[in-house]
Amino acid sequence: MPSRLYDNSMPILAGMILVATVVVSWPAIARDFRLGLITPPGHVWTRSAEAFGTALAEASGGKHSVTVYPSQQLGSEAQILQQLQTGAVDMAFLTAAEVSNRVPAFGAFYAPFLVDDISGAAKLLRSDPALSLLDGMPQQIGVVGIAYGMGGMRQILTRSPLTTAEDLKGRKIRITPFAPIRDFYQLLGAAPTPMPLASVYDAFANGQVDAIDMDLELIVKLKYYELSENVLVSNHMMFPMVGLVSARVWAGLTRKERVLIRELMRAELDKLVNSYESEEKSFEAALRATDTEVMDVNESFFGATIQQWDDLWTERAPVLKEFRNLELSDASEAQ
Ligand code: BEZ
Repeated sequence: MPSRLYDNSMPILAGMILVATVVVSWPAIARDFRLGLITPPGHVWTRSAEAFGTALAEASGGKHSVTVYPSQQLGSEAQILQQLQTGAVDMAFLTAAEVSNRVPAFGAFYAPFLVDDISGAAKLLRSDPALSLLDGMPQQIGVVGIAYGMGGMRQILTRSPLTTAEDLKGRKIRITPFAPIRDFYQLLGAAPTPMPLASVYDAFANGQVDAIDMDLELIVKLKYYELSENVLVSNHMMFPMVGLVSARVWAGLTRKERVLIRELMRAELDKLVNSYESEEKSFEAALRATDTEVMDVNESFFGATIQQWDDLWTERAPVLKEFRNLELSDASEAQ
């Protein structure tokens, strides 16, 4: 009878819970976690991954370590994501754009002029609608979304001068190879040319593309401005990144290990976001101090494209409406 069964099973159940608790509470094996990402050594994302590794090694008393594989050593972002799903790679820092290939809702982050500036981007990434996107990731794509990081706001460099957005028509513009970014330039009538970061400098230098979509940090540090007659400071798009752990690997970790990894990765990515917030202005000042022609534009420069992009993506990424309704400016905080 059900009641007897219930009564009889209680000690067994309690015993099982006790055993399970003991097993999951104490780390059994030392691990060297493999963390993949596409940015080169020395890039802020790579340094942040290394800092996370150092923090994990320290906090675990040297038991755990992280080996960081920069510059696509573990493959493209799509390949890294596949390896996270199988557990062949333990962790990754991936662009939210790559995630949007599997979970279209993440495409909402790339809505043009979703935020005014880098501080708006940081606030959006810390908002409830953004954070709740991380919750569904284990079920949707077999990875655990720990926290957001980000790159700088996107700008446009062109080989020859530009006066209106019409001038972008037909021009080959390098983009990070993802649908929401491609759609923006397609709507503008440009010819978006997907290209991973590692190939961009040579492609722009030898004329394979007429323009590139890039952030201020890399424009300045890699001296892209030397190849360009015009830099359009547009801040037209934010560029989020996500810290991920393979759900398979996660399932094999103890509760303590999970808490530690979550806390330490979150803390490093939080520092990363803060560092972009504090340094973006100095990258912009450094660019303006060069001889490069800088043209400041705002959303009116891009005309109807912004609404057209929203029309295209709202169905795929309904969270876009919530993002657009968030109050993100400093003025809204002061009220
Ligand atoms: C890019 O492809 O432009 C990019 C990728 C990662 C970090 C920063 C920029």
